[in-house]
Amino acid sequence: MYTNWTELEQACKSCEKCNLCHTRTNVVFGMGNPKADILFIGEGPGENEDLEGLPFVGRSGKLLDKMLAAVDLNREENIYIANIVKCRPPQNRDPFPEEQEACINWLRNQVMIMKPKIIVCLGRIAATKLIKPDMKITKEHGIFFEKNGVLMMATLHPAALLRNPNNKPAAFDDFLKLRAKLEELHLTT
Ligand code: URA
Repeated sequence: MYTNWTELEQACKSCEKCNLCHTRTNVVFGMGNPKADILFIGEGPGENEDLEGLPFVGRSGKLLDKMLAAVDLNREENIYIANIVKCRPPQNRDPFPEEQEACINWLRNQVMIMKPKIIVCLGRIAATKLIKPDMKITKEHGIFFEKNGVLMMATLHPAALLRNPNNKPAAFDDFLKLRAKLEELHLTT
């Protein structure tokens, strides 16, 4: 485990712990403010993210940024965004359990250094890996769970919202619950 963020990022960027290293263009370590109280976690990089080396820079990222802005959050200042796997799974398939397992210590190390107060899981993959294996995101999104002193909540993945815009109000409600929780905890953003 690294105690220094820059050293962690450098080590992660040369990772060869699973086969995804052979097909990636860039490792997507994450972006945002590592001193923030809130950490958002997606599934894994898509094509744009792989090419740019940054998380959520494609269409779903644009939607995510809009929802964040509506509750006064943004990745430049008051949140950090990372993924369960740091390298793109070919054809954007779900990352295999063994790929998630090979990668998860990078995320654990990020959490260890950041010490976020709140973790928001974007979608089923992050929610089942981080909150509980039997998490039912359609029923349990927007609910806060406490794990090791950290509040964790899942919301619908922005890519799922692009496929099914009818779910946007429900996801937006989760962001309002997040805002209310930040206020309750006096976490200034
Ligand atoms: N979807 C994700 O889960 N993560 C990204 O970084 C981009 C799209």
